[in-house]
Amino acid sequence: MSTDHEQHYLVTGATGNTGTHVAAGLRDRGLRVRTASRHPVPADGAVRFDWGDVSTFDATLDGIDAVYLVAPVGVADPAPLVRPFLESAVDRGVQRVVQLGSSAVGKGDPGLGEIHSLVSELVPRWTVLRPSWFMQNFVGDHPLAEGIRTSGQIITATGAGRLGFIDAADIAAVAVEALTAEDPIEGELILTGPEALSYADAAAVVSDVHGRPVEHIDLTTEQMVQRLVDTGLAPEFARMLAGLDARIRAGQEDRVTGTVEMVTGRPATSLRDFLTADARATTEAPGPAVP
Ligand SMILES: NC(=O)c1ccc[n+]([C@@H]2O[C@H](COP(=O)([O-])OP(=O)(O)OC[C@H]3O[C@@H](n4cnc5c(N)ncnc54)[C@H](OP(=O)(O)O)[C@@H]3O)[C@@H](O)[C@H]2O)c1
Repeated sequence: MSTDHEQHYLVTGATGNTGTHVAAGLRDRGLRVRTASRHPVPADGAVRFDWGDVSTFDATLDGIDAVYLVAPVGVADPAPLVRPFLESAVDRGVQRVVQLGSSAVGKGDPGLGEIHSLVSELVPRWTVLRPSWFMQNFVGDHPLAEGIRTSGQIITATGAGRLGFIDAADIAAVAVEALTAEDPIEGELILTGPEALSYADAAAVVSDVHGRPVEHIDLTTEQMVQRLVDTGLAPEFARMLAGLDARIRAGQEDRVTGTVEMVTGRPATSLRDFLTADARATTEAPGPAVP
């Protein structure tokens, strides 16, 4: 294997919540990075890559040593798309893969859990990151953020259940370590923020930071399925999402792991600090040019 600075890193999902930060983190270290997604931002090293189009795999993988893997999003059965990519990657000499999974999905479970199995079977050095829910869901285009903006409500079926919301930038910082560490950080890592909060706790933090009231509305699981179906989701997908809420309600996501600090050497970002920084960035963003 070549030395760290000769290594060529591929970042998939490079325009997304974690991929953006993974690419930036590797570049900050002076490392060679190729970014890949269906709509690549024109920049040195960006390629058009589509999980659904095998003809894009060769140019994406050419000369690559290590991969940050964000499996196709919103695809019910991603394993048949990811397997040929991983087989080709390993054939071409890729030694290390860091895959983005989810704290709620274990190895072998449908969807991301099957990708976890594939990575562990096929790749010589592998790490699966299993983060809790992203703080990014509270901002930008996410439906949760939309609800906060339009009605001042966070609607879930999670009851008083708590979870360790995490900043995607912290997930990315762990990914960069796992991709580059001399002593490999291998296996699966459950990643959380620094505290476990219920959605009512989170609503109080959002209210405080934004300076206007935001309330948590708690639905039953069945009410949540119906609500999601009413927004146009397929019943099966709606039941899967509502099932994740039920998991939180049952306390299965109520944990803080401390892994971000252990791996990166700095504490994970709190929801309050994340939202404060986002509000400041939004306020300071340049407005439309005045003619
Ligand atoms: N949100 C959460 O709370 C949470 C919690 C735990 C785990 N996760 C997991 O994190 C993963 C990422 O979710 P996210 O919402 O943060 O998404 P994201 O990474 O912000 O966006 C998806 C990325 O993948 C790329 N992409 C999508 N479809 C593609 C395709 N067919 N071929 C190539 N690239 C494709 C997109 O770029 P282009 O559109 O340019 O292709 C984008 O860069 C998901 O697997 C999710 O289950 C999310």
